[in-house]
Amino acid sequence: MQNNRFLKVDEALKKVAARLSARSLHNLMHEPERSQFIFQFEDLTVDCTRQLIDKNGMMTLLRLAENCQLQTRIAEMFSGALVNTTEHRPVKHVVVRTPDHLASAAYQKLSAFAESVRRNPNITKVVNLGIGGSDLGPQMVTQALAGYHDGPACHFVGNICPTDLHDVLVKCDPRKTLFIVTSKSFNTVETLTNAMMAKRWLIQQGVDVGTAMVAVTAARARAEEWGIDPDHIFAFANGIGGRYSLWSPVGLSVMIAIGSENFSRLLAGAYAMDRHVQQTDLPQNIGVIMGLLRIWCRRYLKLPAYGLIPYDQRLAKMPAWAQQLEMESNGKSVDRQGHPLQSAAGPLIWGAAGTSAQHSFFQWLHQSVDIIPIDILVAVKTPAGLDDQIWYDHHKLLAINAVAQAEALAQGAPNLAEPHRHFSGNRPSVLITWDQTTPYALGRLLALYEHITVISGFLWDVNSFDQWGVELGKQMANQLLSGEGLENFSPAAKAFLDRLNVPRT
Ligand code: F6P
Repeated sequence: MQNNRFLKVDEALKKVAARLSARSLHNLMHEPERSQFIFQFEDLTVDCTRQLIDKNGMMTLLRLAENCQLQTRIAEMFSGALVNTTEHRPVKHVVVRTPDHLASAAYQKLSAFAESVRRNPNITKVVNLGIGGSDLGPQMVTQALAGYHDGPACHFVGNICPTDLHDVLVKCDPRKTLFIVTSKSFNTVETLTNAMMAKRWLIQQGVDVGTAMVAVTAARARAEEWGIDPDHIFAFANGIGGRYSLWSPVGLSVMIAIGSENFSRLLAGAYAMDRHVQQTDLPQNIGVIMGLLRIWCRRYLKLPAYGLIPYDQRLAKMPAWAQQLEMESNGKSVDRQGHPLQSAAGPLIWGAAGTSAQHSFFQWLHQSVDIIPIDILVAVKTPAGLDDQIWYDHHKLLAINAVAQAEALAQGAPNLAEPHRHFSGNRPSVLITWDQTTPYALGRLLALYEHITVISGFLWDVNSFDQWGVELGKQMANQLLSGEGLENFSPAAKAFLDRLNVPRT
């Protein structure tokens, strides 16, 4: 990222940022041809008119993309090149949503299994045991597509805190519950501890663990060793990172909930976005534009965080999913060559569903000294399973609130006489809309967010596919568990364990 061509455009962008920071977003929004910042793909509309950017700024950003050889980097990812250099792996999440993959024996086996579970009257509950990417994606999609949920009830248990599993088990009949142990590595303490607790619960009730537990993993041998029936192990490639994995067998719980046909529509939506990102010229490429705006807000406008506010209760878990996606991918401080970055990469990602969020943290968004850009997401049409009239009455309030917030953030309202009522404005947002939250539309939207993450990672020149930052804490926990290396811990850490009555083995 620090090559001469980059540095030249970087300087130009710093000047553009200084110029635009002195402009009012209100004025920018009313400039002629502002609609050039509204981007369209199928029924997905991405309205970037409330970003602190103008035509010249966008052209300079596009030069940055060219100088960073963005199209080559995108093509390399799709071609299966070893883009995850620290783990020496290609990136394969885009492969499992291709039509070729849907025709594969592995996919057919998975969907046949999902359908057999859906048909089985003796399975009324499915419990996914997994954490991080083995939990957040399938959990979020299951809730988002609740209107399509006609299979058994699905629960998701991720936390090592025993209340998480306990509170689900009390709702389950051991003879009618299927456990899916979802772990790419099949080595994650939380998941294996919960799986062991579930296994004991089944054994105590005299249930055959071999049929009541299946596994989804990239480490087949470990799952077999742990005791999962080899016929009930659904394996996936190591090149599919946990946070990018909901499309793979990690989505088995979703497939059981909504059926394999609907699941294949989810994949088709993601595939359509993949084609768009691969084939569309940079100036109209939504993934590229949104990726460029991420780096624009973070590096040039120096805004440290980014919010996601879906105005859709069924998408309430999307911010948590996107948080792992972006923060585990781009929360880095060295580039691909291992050189320290000259400025911070990925922003802090957070959010919650609107309108509820308006009544919790929007005060801060409107009047804090810090400025945090947000994406506001709203569907146009009635979600599956809802009455049109009810939707109409509520939806108009959702839609009106969404745009009112975007306008208030951008335009502000000066009140120098009463400073506590002063709204500075100039707070950027993007309004994202689509027709209806079908499986296809959801797949397309989620794939867009993946591409924003990966594309901004390419621009920052970080490896968006590794996550070494989570290792040290795990190693230190293991040291405490084994009792080895206690001398590396502070007296305060030892006192803490004493206070919590944790024996030091
Ligand atoms: O600790 C982080 C992490 O490795 C994530 O990247 C991953 O999604 C999660 O743990 C769970 O890992 P696994 O699927 O291997 O159990």
